[in-house]
Amino acid sequence: MSVGAAVRVQALEKSYGDLQVLSGVDLDVARGSIFALLGSNGAGKTTVVKILSTLLRADAGSATVDGYDVVTQASDVRQSISLTGQFAAVDEALTGRENLVLVARLRHLKGAGGIADDLLARFQLADAGGRRVSTYSGGMRRRLDIAMSLIGDPPVIFLDEPTTGLDPQSRVEVWSCVRELAGQGTTVLLTTQYLDEAEQLADRIAILHEGRIIADGTLAELKRLLPPAEVEYVEKQPTLEDVFLAVVGVTSEDPQ
Ligand SMILES: Nc1ncnc2c1ncn2[C@@H]1O[C@H](COP(=O)(O)OP(=O)(O)OP(=O)(O)O)[C@@H](O)[C@H]1O
Ligand SMILES: [Mg+2]
Repeated sequence: MSVGAAVRVQALEKSYGDLQVLSGVDLDVARGSIFALLGSNGAGKTTVVKILSTLLRADAGSATVDGYDVVTQASDVRQSISLTGQFAAVDEALTGRENLVLVARLRHLKGAGGIADDLLARFQLADAGGRRVSTYSGGMRRRLDIAMSLIGDPPVIFLDEPTTGLDPQSRVEVWSCVRELAGQGTTVLLTTQYLDEAEQLADRIAILHEGRIIADGTLAELKRLLPPAEVEYVEKQPTLEDVFLAVVGVTSEDPQ
C-alpha cells in the first residue's frame, strides 16, 4: 500500500503512426472514488486505460497506479489492478459459477468455490450461477465479467465502457454493482461515452477531447463552468429514459 492518489497521470502522450491520440493528458484519481473518463468514439479512452494497465507504452509522460510506475514497476501495477475490457471476456460454454471458479484457480486462490458463490450472491447472479453463460442477458454477462475481475480483491479496477450496448435496466444494474465496489473502498476508473452514466456514478469526471483533458471536476464544478441558469417557467417533461424506467418499474437510484 502506498499513499497518494490511486491513479496519477502526468503529461501523457501517445501516437499511432502519424495519428496523435493523446497530447498531454493529466489526471488524478483519489482512492476509493469513482472516476469517469468521458469522451466520444475515438477520443483515446481505451488508449489511456491500456497504458494504465501496462498493455501499451506511452510515448511521453508518466503514470502511476497504486503508487507504482506503469513502466518501471509494471508487474506491481498488474498485481494491483483488474481490467474489464470493452468487450465481455466470459466463456459462453461454461456456467457463471464455473467461469468464476476458473479465474480463482488461475489466480491460485484457496476456496475457489466459496469465492465464486460470494461473488454470485453479490452480483445478484446466485440463481443463474448454474446456467451456461450463453443463456445470460447482456446485463448478466457484464455483471459476471465485472465479478470475475474482482477475484483477488484488486485495489484499483478499470472498466472500459461497462454499459455500452446494454438496455437501460441492465445499465442501472451495472451502475449499482459499481457503486457497491466503491462503497467497499475499491477505486474505480471507468470510461464512458454516456453523459448520464458519468452524472449518475462518478465522484469526479474528466472530459477527454482532442488529446487533452478539457474539463475535470465534480459534477457540481463542471456545471459551474456554464453561465448561471436563467430562471424561466417551463413544464418539465420526463425524458424517454425516465418513462422507460418508470414503466418497467426501476429507478436509476434503486435497481431493486
Ligand atoms: N492499434 C492502433 N493502431 C492505430 N490506431 C489506433 C490503434 N488503437 C486505436 N487507434 C486509434 O486511436 C484513436 C483512439 O482510439 P481509442 O480506442 O483509444 O478510442 P476510444 O475513446 O476508446 O473510442 P471508443 O469510444 O470507440 O471505444 C482512434 O482514432 C483509433 O482509431
Ligand atoms: Mg474504447
